[in-house]
Amino acid sequence: MRITMVGTGYVGLVTGTCFANTGNQVTCLDIDQSKIEKLNNGISPIYEPGLDELIGRNAKASRLHFTTDKSAAYKNAEIIFIAVGTPSGSDGRANLQYVLAAAQDIGDAIEASSDTREKIIVVKSTVPVGTNIKVQQAVASRTSKTFHMASNPEFLKEGAAINDFNKPDRVVIGAHTKYAADKMRDLYEPFVRQGNPIFIMDIPSAEMVKYASNCMLATKISFINEVANLCEQYGADISEVRRGMCSDKRIGNQFLYPGLGYGGSCFPKDVLAMISMGQDCGHPAELLESVHRVNQQQRDVFLTKLESHFEGADWSKLKIAVWGIAFKPGTDDVREAPSITLIQKLLEKGATVTAYDPVAHETAGEVLTDSITYANNAIEAINDADALIVCTDWSEFKNPEFELMKDKMATPVIFDGRNVYRRSTMREYGFVYHSVGRAPINEENAAV
Ligand SMILES: NC(=O)c1ccc[n+]([C@@H]2O[C@H](COP(=O)([O-])OP(=O)(O)OC[C@H]3O[C@@H](n4cnc5c(N)ncnc54)[C@H](O)[C@@H]3O)[C@@H](O)[C@H]2O)c1
Repeated sequence: MRITMVGTGYVGLVTGTCFANTGNQVTCLDIDQSKIEKLNNGISPIYEPGLDELIGRNAKASRLHFTTDKSAAYKNAEIIFIAVGTPSGSDGRANLQYVLAAAQDIGDAIEASSDTREKIIVVKSTVPVGTNIKVQQAVASRTSKTFHMASNPEFLKEGAAINDFNKPDRVVIGAHTKYAADKMRDLYEPFVRQGNPIFIMDIPSAEMVKYASNCMLATKISFINEVANLCEQYGADISEVRRGMCSDKRIGNQFLYPGLGYGGSCFPKDVLAMISMGQDCGHPAELLESVHRVNQQQRDVFLTKLESHFEGADWSKLKIAVWGIAFKPGTDDVREAPSITLIQKLLEKGATVTAYDPVAHETAGEVLTDSITYANNAIEAINDADALIVCTDWSEFKNPEFELMKDKMATPVIFDGRNVYRRSTMREYGFVYHSVGRAPINEENAAV
């Protein structure tokens, strides 16, 4: 099939590349000239394991093309995917300006095209229920030709995006015409050979599936963080509580890890968008309002631990090391990353910050500019540091040389925002250790 992917971000680029890899002719369109230039030079603008190689292979086979030329991109497309960003607006609502601008371009292109085939326009971006109708109207305002609409929310995880896309747990397709539903099913058949389902449903339900899924996962994270905070107050250990609780099959053990709260480009904005949807129809999403609040507070709860540890200290003399900036391991995405909030607050207090992340220095630099120092490796980051904060649980932080760390640091103090280390190990090596939902190890209880 001839596919045009509008937007070459984390979703559009992965989706377009994976469709090309199953033999489709894919053109990826973006308005960002620098992204397209990089892609045409064989460089992926994002870090996603395995993506470079897949792009290279499919571009070489002339199945995958990158362009900023709208008319060329839309000309022969049978299926056009809109995969542009839907960031939060200042009121929390999903900002649909990029989606609707793309829809108008598509309408113009359909009107100008001599191709007589009816095109399918697929909204892959995460959008509030009712957006497909707005897209349909925006396209129809520019052309009188017949076209079909479909909703196809994406569930890939950054860091494992290619595997997720190639072997999805499920594919969700909202379509109102048989033509669109059949074409979409054909397109996705190669990805569900192992028997995972393709669900065809009405468009509003498909739009809602995405928000309901992300909001459920966000709820689990805020829930376990709330329990972790209570554990600290009552002397329980969240790791033990987790073990006992998650062995119940009805509960399961995924997305129930305490930490600094969820971040990234999806959960924060999707929870806010769902809250707005509730407000707009007069049914406040009270549970999700709390989920969001708990998540925001979680970063402050963690910062309070640093403030109490360094109470009375002159922050301008403190050197804090940060391991991990990306919002989670496996990606260079720092959007809404808890690390960014923490670093900004430490800088406000006057501390000097040196950070290390295996892949996210460039993306972090776009937000933090040169306000912090970026170290070449984890050990360099902690040199002479008064404390280390672990913000992202990259594998390389899981088993570091603790003796060497103690030698390098000015004081052996770790604030572990991901509960990466065992308390017994920390005690063995003599670290002052603060984590989430577990009692700290400090001078008073170190020998216990
Ligand atoms: N990132 C994820 O893990 C993920 C997962 C599932 C769903 N989603 C959803 O997918 C959508 C895209 O997310 P993303 O992270 O890939 O976004 P992104 O910000 O990484 O990329 C969006 C791209 O669209 C381009 N763009 C904007 N307007 C355009 C236009 N008119 N024509 C062509 N290109 C245009 C931008 O230049 C940018 O390169 C969002 O709605 C998001 O919620 C994201």
